[in-house]
Amino acid sequence: MAERVREASAGKPSRLKKVFFITSNPHKFSEVNEMCAGYGIELVHLQREYPEVRADTCEQVASASLFNISKTVKMPFIIEDSGLFIDSLNGFPGVYSAWVLRKVGLDGILRLMRGRRDRRAHFVSAIGYFDGKKAHVFTGTVDGSIAQEIRGRSGFGYDPLFIPKGYKFTFAENMTLKQKLSHRKKAVEQFLKHVLH
Ligand code: IMP
Repeated sequence: MAERVREASAGKPSRLKKVFFITSNPHKFSEVNEMCAGYGIELVHLQREYPEVRADTCEQVASASLFNISKTVKMPFIIEDSGLFIDSLNGFPGVYSAWVLRKVGLDGILRLMRGRRDRRAHFVSAIGYFDGKKAHVFTGTVDGSIAQEIRGRSGFGYDPLFIPKGYKFTFAENMTLKQKLSHRKKAVEQFLKHVLH
């Protein structure tokens, strides 16, 4: 896929397209920035918080944020809303992932998972893109499971608990794996496909 996107940019003018990434999360910025490198996009970090609506899905949150921010910001920008959805907890913490992590931490999630055999979970990323005129939302998901204990120190958020399907490492134990498989990577691929065509 990455190769196909890269091919799509071949032969295009080499001038970089400037897109702002509005986020208060430096980890999100550095992950997305690394994924966009070499695709003709200059991603500029605007480290800024913005209010988020309450909704059931990351897509809805991203759409509402795009709508609100584009009332005042008229240059091309992206925002991202993401979360961890745990099957046996009916999708909790979902769109409240950041808040739940602040309140109960990884230990709190492990306590909620104690004794549960079904440990399936998935991450979702919804990237909202305002191109200066129109709003677009691109999503990506990655399936996996919740580890029995905290493992690894890299990454951020729930990375030390999330084992992608088919692998033994948590994202926090293997960032190369995360950058290849993550929900954010899949959403960024959709975004790049759109921008480069
Ligand atoms: P928000 O998009 O600002 O609402 O925050 C999403 C929250 O979900 C983050 O603060 C993390 O706690 C969690 N999250 C989202 N993506 C990831 C990821 O790639 N790794 C680990 N945790 C994540």
